Amino acid sequence: MAVILVTGGTGYIGSHTCVELIQAGYEVIVLDNLYNSSEAVLNRIETITGTKPKFYKTDILDKEGLRRIFAENKIDAVIHFAGYKAVGESVQIPLTYYENNISGSVNLYEAMKEAGCKTLVFSSSATVYGSPKSCPIREDFPVSTTNPYGSTKLMNEMILQDVCVSDPDWSVMLLRYFNPIGAHPSGLIGEVPNGIPNNLVPYIARVANGTLEFLRVFGNDYPTPDGTGVRDYIHVVDLAKGHISALRYAMEHKGAEKINLGTGNGYSVLEVLHAYEEACGKKLPYKIMERRPGDIAECWADTEKAWKLLGWKAEYDIQAMCEHSWNFTVKNPDGIR
Ligand code: WQD
Repeated sequence: MAVILVTGGTGYIGSHTCVELIQAGYEVIVLDNLYNSSEAVLNRIETITGTKPKFYKTDILDKEGLRRIFAENKIDAVIHFAGYKAVGESVQIPLTYYENNISGSVNLYEAMKEAGCKTLVFSSSATVYGSPKSCPIREDFPVSTTNPYGSTKLMNEMILQDVCVSDPDWSVMLLRYFNPIGAHPSGLIGEVPNGIPNNLVPYIARVANGTLEFLRVFGNDYPTPDGTGVRDYIHVVDLAKGHISALRYAMEHKGAEKINLGTGNGYSVLEVLHAYEEACGKKLPYKIMERRPGDIAECWADTEKAWKLLGWKAEYDIQAMCEHSWNFTVKNPDGIR
């Protein structure tokens, strides 16, 4: 049974990926510093799958801690989620983001190299496309970033491509996520934002459960069908399954591949809000506000490469994404403790 180290494995996308890895027959080891998640997530993974992953409470800035994990376990591949991910926060504290997301990641790659583990799936983001010239966005589109968080994702992609040039034995999958939302259908794991959510769907979920008064719609004067921002929302379980497909490919091929993980469909803010109203059975209040600085009008994926190379495509529709998000919210009013 192949052994997979999942960094950030108690986080939102990490935990869903651990579930799919275990159910696909992999042995999973989780590394997390629990900065933005709870160890209780491991018990939820066990409840869903019957298996509790081996856990190391370790920070990727801890070089010795990383070396110990590779010394104590024969790790066949790594899926790397651990990192800070708030766009707005990254603008306020860029050095913290560069230290954690770049230095921490380089520590991991060095520990992998020393241990002879050269297969990696990296959590990148569609944010590397900046303001795309058109949609759908293909992997060969120009890249440019507008905030430190996005820059750390692009820099990791560049670092890993350089590693593959220096050593053709490496296999690296650079997965560019569009907008992950939703939760596992069991309602046992899902997104638990720290504080007031920056992202749309976790914010709507708080309006729906009454902890926030109304949704602020950041602009309705974009060149889109209803004037509000359009994004490619993808169910977190579909995203997790995309990682399994990418891992399988990486274990059979060498070199680096950039791959979009999206649905290829764009939905506006108001379309998502209405889908959530359907899901929760309530009318949800909103107010049209000014545009949010840095936002783009629209962004959705060309999904052809993921289908042709990995044989993967997203299955859930926007209604299911909202229903599963609401189900998790109702079952976990105080998050996962
Ligand atoms: C979606 C749409 C907003 C909140 C970000 C990161 C990206 C990735 C996903 C990590 C936009 C509108 C939002 C609200 C709103 N994260 N909105 N009211 O900005 O597309 O992407 O999260 O990888 O890197 O940039 O996602 O959910 O913040 O916004 O009207 O309270 O919803 O204007 O049109 P975004 P988002």
